[in-house]
Amino acid sequence: MNNTELFDLTDKVAVVTGAGGGLGLEFAITLAEAGANIVCVDLDLESARRTTTIVEGFGRKAHALPCDVADEEQVRSTIRDAHSRFGRIDILVNNAGIADPAPAPVGQYDSVNWHRVIDIDLHGVFYFCNETLPFMEQQGSGKIINIASMWGLVGGSSVFPIPAYNAAKGAVINLTREIGLEYATKNIQVNALCPGFYRTRVGPFDDREFLSAVTGITPMGRIAEAEEIRGPALFLASAASNFMTGQTLVTDGGALAQ
Ligand SMILES: NC(=O)c1ccc[n+]([C@@H]2O[C@H](COP(=O)([O-])OP(=O)(O)OC[C@H]3O[C@@H](n4cnc5c(N)ncnc54)[C@H](O)[C@@H]3O)[C@@H](O)[C@H]2O)c1
Repeated sequence: MNNTELFDLTDKVAVVTGAGGGLGLEFAITLAEAGANIVCVDLDLESARRTTTIVEGFGRKAHALPCDVADEEQVRSTIRDAHSRFGRIDILVNNAGIADPAPAPVGQYDSVNWHRVIDIDLHGVFYFCNETLPFMEQQGSGKIINIASMWGLVGGSSVFPIPAYNAAKGAVINLTREIGLEYATKNIQVNALCPGFYRTRVGPFDDREFLSAVTGITPMGRIAEAEEIRGPALFLASAASNFMTGQTLVTDGGALAQ
């Protein structure tokens, strides 16, 4: 396989959750540019539709589906709809996620927020894997990329207390290891991508104080633009990562190297 073939996704079918903006939009763009058809899933159907228009601009097929990833029934019908429309699912990017709505230390943390973050950031990943893996097993191949966070590997309180996010993303990383092992002999690779700070709507990156705090703990001295996630995503979605499973790829400007 030459380098072009290594990263070629021609006629692959990818499901991207949270595809309406931020990193999800970047995943849809990079996979489409490499040749994949994309099912764009988002709570916000209008934003998912905007992404399909961009995907179609690359000459690929795209379909937008509304879904709350925290709702198992909605996830089941989303994956069935995606599979019946395209006949296969080669790549699943579990990207949809939220940050703690009101950061606070445990002892003062709102348990309603706790459940919402865990429902979306952890249960959503499980539901999508659970519904998609039987199709991948049937077709004898698949790639799953679970979007965790560098905050799944360390506590976040050096910048802000985000216990629910820490718990959910840490669990996603270990769930990734477990599913990677379960499907290791079945030609299905499951890996986690752990971004540091990328300019999206997940954090208040327009707030100068916040920006200065997060830049301060990033050795490269800047946050990443959302489009900088494309390279790592294409690596994990393509044949380039065929001998890698159950692993975490950290793209954080050096933050966790300290
Ligand atoms: N941007 C960063 O710095 C950063 C760092 C580490 C990890 N991440 C992770 O990357 C992923 C994407 O985040 P982002 O930065 O692009 O954020 P974002 O807020 O810009 O985009 C999130 C997308 O997910 C969708 N979404 C939210 N809740 C949903 C639900 N219940 N069901 C379906 N869709 C839902 C939103 O509508 C939105 O389109 C998240 O899992 C986030 O935790 C982001």
